[in-house]
Amino acid sequence: MMTDAQVPVWIFPTQYGEFPVIIAHRGASGYLPEHTLEAYQLAMDLGADFIEPDLVLTKDGHLIARHDYYLSGTTDIADHPEFSDRKRVLDGREDWFVEDFTLAEIKTLLARQGFKGRSKAYDDRFLIPTFDEILSLISDNEANSGRIIGVYPETKHPAHFKAIGLDFVKPLVAALKRFGYRCEDCPVFIQSFEPEILRQLREDTRYRLIMLVYPQKDDDPNAAPDVPSISLEEAARFAHGVGPSKSLLLDEAGQDRGFVTRAHDLGLLVHVWTIRDDAVAAPFQTAAEEYHRIFSLGVDGIFTDFTPSGVLYRTLASYGGD
Ligand code: G3P
Ligand code: CA
Repeated sequence: MMTDAQVPVWIFPTQYGEFPVIIAHRGASGYLPEHTLEAYQLAMDLGADFIEPDLVLTKDGHLIARHDYYLSGTTDIADHPEFSDRKRVLDGREDWFVEDFTLAEIKTLLARQGFKGRSKAYDDRFLIPTFDEILSLISDNEANSGRIIGVYPETKHPAHFKAIGLDFVKPLVAALKRFGYRCEDCPVFIQSFEPEILRQLREDTRYRLIMLVYPQKDDDPNAAPDVPSISLEEAARFAHGVGPSKSLLLDEAGQDRGFVTRAHDLGLLVHVWTIRDDAVAAPFQTAAEEYHRIFSLGVDGIFTDFTPSGVLYRTLASYGGD
């Protein structure tokens, strides 16, 4: 029988040598319609360390969980004739937009699978949750399991909402405080692609902040593939970490671009998105290979649609390393 002393545990090359956290991206979204209480519950049952709600604002200022500010992609709104006259064009897209609906109206919609190729067996069964309902679910799970489960809200399009008189900061901070999250070491990360709201949160609160970054070449074809949309030096002024697209970490041959080391040298955590078992990135042949390579870089956390794979491959990595 193997004793504890004989187990070959690998020390992860994370910022502080801790195990990387498994962040349930939009809940257990590989299995159930994303951003539903059911998808978050499944992620907690499967061992996620953090639950990730993307947040948008309703007409009456409530935070709800949706990835997009338009509603047709992941709800049954097209089947609601009472809302047919609300369809309009915004930013070049004809759709229904969350800011045109009250929370009571949103609560008449049902969630649908929006990711191509995934099961639609659970479509039209689950409601769209508020941020309060998500925090309440986490709180209940913590009480029942004795396990700490973090929350990782993303503010989606804060400048857009601010321009139409809807502010994220007050309702977000008020909700977190209502549920007892008050200090810098509580299990919360607040993330955004827009630095302005993070700078404001840095001024006004002590929550840990994650600046989301993508390759600058997505906006500027002349940029090098390893250049992030915001420099790491700038992010380090106000954020505790960065959330990079995985293409910033590895090139097409799976070689390390040095991003994690550069971020760690600036004191930044690195939480990479998004690992998907059903959309493995080149050059990897299997999800196992991709998880293993990404953990070998020393990332401090991963966003995955498939919580159990993140948990499993993290455990396997801890037994062997690279
Ligand atoms: O928030 C991390 C990652 O989720 C960013 O991408 O578009 O899935 O919100 P998105
Ligand atoms: Ca997100």
